[in-house]
Amino acid sequence: MSKKAFGIDIGGSGIKGAPVDLSSGELAADRLRIPTPQPSTPEAVADTVAELIASFDIATDMPVGVTFPAVIKAGVAQTAANVDKSWIGTDVDALLTARTGHDVFVVNDADAAGIAEMKYGAGRRTSGVVQVITLGTGVGSATFVDGTLVPNTELGHLLLHGDSAERYMASSIKDEQDLDWETWAGRLQEYFSHLEFLFSPTRIIVGGGVSKKHKHFLPLLDLKTEIVPATLRNGAGIVGAAVLAHREEKALLKADEKAAKKAEEKERAKRGAAK
Ligand code: BGC
Repeated sequence: MSKKAFGIDIGGSGIKGAPVDLSSGELAADRLRIPTPQPSTPEAVADTVAELIASFDIATDMPVGVTFPAVIKAGVAQTAANVDKSWIGTDVDALLTARTGHDVFVVNDADAAGIAEMKYGAGRRTSGVVQVITLGTGVGSATFVDGTLVPNTELGHLLLHGDSAERYMASSIKDEQDLDWETWAGRLQEYFSHLEFLFSPTRIIVGGGVSKKHKHFLPLLDLKTEIVPATLRNGAGIVGAAVLAHREEKALLKADEKAAKKAEEKERAKRGAAK
């Protein structure tokens, strides 16, 4: 199997994708961005995803990983905090696999960013509990224990002042309420102190678009835990989704091989008994 997979990041405003070279964790071609259709229903998004993949000259057996901002269980979206509610209950894997002709594997967006950071970025070779928190329209989280992902932790919805924390400290709230860095950092302090108290992580990695401006807010935080910016920034979702797709495809092939071997053994035993 080639060490390449295709990664797609589905966001509220844009759908971005590129093939990823998994030996380096780098994009193997320039990424393409297409505006997210409005309303962002499953059917409309599936068409855009198919259009995006078709713009690249890739083999049909290349697996595709797709990030989505929701709880994902066995390929099915369970929530829709910042996306069209019609996604709830949609089998995203099945929809996109049927529409694109590729094997598609969907993963929560923050989990994808976390997978990429753990493999190629700020989480490399870090054991213990590592938490990647993405600050964007919403707040996403990826939790790793000795490198293994605990999926769908949804820590952007921890309660803070009686509501989902993301409604108080997402970077979209900073923009909407025109908060200066100090005021916003005060809100982040409350959030990260709470997170630290609940999980005692070894390291916290802060991702999302705003993480490239980390110098304005990370030094203002006072925590016991080491807190560092993500190093892959915006490309993390694409890279993490591709890593996941490659892993899942490999597991499927292995399961197929095992099943074929078992069937062969059974057949041989049957033939032996008939002799
Ligand atoms: C969603 C998460 C997502 C995060 C970042 C939250 O509102 O519930 O699933 O990871 O936003 O997009």
